[in-house]
Amino acid sequence: MNKVASLLLLFLLPVVASGGLQESLQNGKAIYRAYCSVCHGDKGDGQSFVRNVIKTPPRDFTDKTQADQFSVERMRWAILLGKPGTAMPAWRFDLTALQVSDVITYIQKEIMGLYLAEPVSPEAAIYK
Ligand code: HEC
Repeated sequence: MNKVASLLLLFLLPVVASGGLQESLQNGKAIYRAYCSVCHGDKGDGQSFVRNVIKTPPRDFTDKTQADQFSVERMRWAILLGKPGTAMPAWRFDLTALQVSDVITYIQKEIMGLYLAEPVSPEAAIYK
């Protein structure tokens, strides 16, 4: 192996080894940007263009006083089934269990600022 390749490996190894969480965050961010930020805002604070044209505006996910209401399972149900009476669509036909878990990981860690030691697991009771 030449020098450049081994240096590259040395550099990449910790990234690969830290594995799951980083990968979920990256995937979750991509999903969030593609499907959620149009309503929930890039920062997750609900400041989007859409908020002006819907009856129940998306809440501020960065609001620390609300974060503890949002268990993983509550978020999973809302994402899968949508929120009746609001513009929140159901995503169960468009996102896989893993994608839903990854976007929850992203919202909880990067938007709500919660501590997560590992990514949200797609092995949830509700799929069984
Ligand atoms: C068409 C606009 C729209 C899109 C797109 C959208 N949402 Fe929502 N979402 C809403 C509205 C409106 C609410 C209801 C107000 C609230 O609870 O924030 C909501 C509520 C929620 C809630 C809280 C539900 C609860 O338990 O009270 C979660 C979690 C959520 N959305 C996640 C997502 C995720 C993840 C995506 C992307 C996969 C997404 N939303 C895409 C509009 C949208």
